[in-house]
Amino acid sequence: MADPKKLFIKTYGCQMNVYDSERMAEAMGADGYVTTETADDADMVLLNTCHIREKAGEKLYSDLGRLRELKRDKPNLKIGVAGCVAQAEGAEIMRRMPIVDLVVGPQSYHNLPAMARGDAPNIDTEFPLEDKFDLLPERKATRGPTAFLTVQEGCDKFCAFCVVPYTRGSEVSRAASRILAEARGLVEKGVRDITLLGQNVNAYHGSSEAGDFTLSRLIRELARIDGLQRIRYTTSHPNDMEDDLIAAHGDEPKLMPYLHLPVQSGSDRVLKAMNRKHTAEQYLRLIERIRAARPDILLSSDFIVGFPGETDADFAATLDLIRAVGYGQAYSFKYSARPGTPAAEKPELPADVVDARLQTLQALLTEQQRAVQQSMVGRELGVLYEKPGRQAGQMIGKSDHLHAVYVNDPAGKVGELVRVRILASSTNSLAGERISE
Ligand code: 5AD
Ligand code: SF4
Repeated sequence: MADPKKLFIKTYGCQMNVYDSERMAEAMGADGYVTTETADDADMVLLNTCHIREKAGEKLYSDLGRLRELKRDKPNLKIGVAGCVAQAEGAEIMRRMPIVDLVVGPQSYHNLPAMARGDAPNIDTEFPLEDKFDLLPERKATRGPTAFLTVQEGCDKFCAFCVVPYTRGSEVSRAASRILAEARGLVEKGVRDITLLGQNVNAYHGSSEAGDFTLSRLIRELARIDGLQRIRYTTSHPNDMEDDLIAAHGDEPKLMPYLHLPVQSGSDRVLKAMNRKHTAEQYLRLIERIRAARPDILLSSDFIVGFPGETDADFAATLDLIRAVGYGQAYSFKYSARPGTPAAEKPELPADVVDARLQTLQALLTEQQRAVQQSMVGRELGVLYEKPGRQAGQMIGKSDHLHAVYVNDPAGKVGELVRVRILASSTNSLAGERISE
C-alpha cells in the first residue's frame, strides 16, 4: 500500500474553526490523508482562516508567501485556503497567490476531498441548504475526553463591528436528532465533556421528529446520555438567554457553572452604536438572574475597546460594569475595522488612546480573574483528567469552572472525573488533592 499522504492544517481564530479543522481532517482521512504537525513534511497544507479581528488578510498572505518558498522545492505540494477569509475573498486569493490550489468556504467542507483530488471546481464558497456536517464522515474522538460539537452556525445579529453575518451567513441550526446522534457517538468513543458551539449558540432553534428544540431542551436531552458527564456551550448573546436556559443552569447538574456571555461595552451609547440591542442595566439584571439560578457560576465576556466614538466616560462605564459583574475570565480586543461592516465607515480613535484603555481594562480583568481563581482554594470541585502532567504521578484536568488543575494522583486515568479539594492557586492554574475513590 502507498504511504498515506500528509495533511497539515493551520487553524486561526475561534473554537468553531478548531471543530471545522477536525472535521476536515476526518474527511481527508477517509481519502487516505493523515495529519502532520508541520508544513515541511506535508503533501497538502490547509489554512483555516478567521476574519473576525486579526489583520486576517495580511496574515494569510504572509503565510502564503512562506508557502510559496516551500512549493518551489516541492512542486506537488497542494495548498488550500478555508474559513472566513476564503469565504470573503474567494477567487481574489487565487488571483493574488497562484500557488493556491483550492479555496473552500465554511459551508462547503464536505467537498474538500473531491476538490483536493481535482474532481470538483477548485473554488467553492456556496451556502448549501443541507447540513454540511451530515455530508462529512463520522466523528472521531481526537481530543481525549473532551470534544467540541457545532450545533448552530451564522448570525443574524449584525453587530456594527462584526463580519460573521457576512462570512458565515445567517443563522442555521442543525437538527437536534443529528446532534444527539453525534454526541452519542462521541461518548461511545470515550468523550465525557462536550462543548456545544455556535456563533450565536443560545439562539439555537432546531427541529426533530420530537418537535422544536431550543438550546435548553437540547442540553436537557444531552444530559440524559449515560456517560456524558459535562456540557458547556459557547458563544451566547445576552438577548437570547431564555428563561429555561437560565433555569437549566440551576437544575441540570451536567451543565457546568461557566458562561461566556459577551457584553463588549458597558456604555449604553456605545452599545447602541454597536447595535447590541440591550443596555448595560439589562445585562446586569440578566447576570443577577443567572446568578440566582447558579450562584457559583463563573462568568466570562468579550470586550472591545476603542470602538469609533468611544469617549473617556464611555470607557469608564465599561470599567464600572466589569466591577459590578466580577468576571472569572475575559477576552479583550482593540477595535479593528472590518471592511464591509457599518462601523468601518466611522473615524477611528487615536492608537495611543486605545492602547492605554486596553491596558487599563486588562489590568482590571486580570485582577478579577486572579481573585476568582484564588476563591476556589478550599473548595471541592469536579476535575476531569485530560492528560498526565510532566511530573511522575501527576494528572492535569479541568475543573467545573474550566480552570486547569494539577493533581498528584498516581492512580489517576485520563477521562476520569474525580472530586478534588483545591489547595493552591498560581498564575494560570490550580493545584489540588483527590478526595474521591
Ligand atoms: N474588532 C475588534 N474585536 C472584534 N470582535 C469581533 N469583531 C471585532 C472587531 N471588528 C470581537 C468581539 C467578539 C469576539 C469574538 O471578537 O468581542 O465577541
Ligand atoms: Fe458578531 Fe454580534 Fe453575531 Fe457575535 S452576535 S457573531 S459579535 S454579529
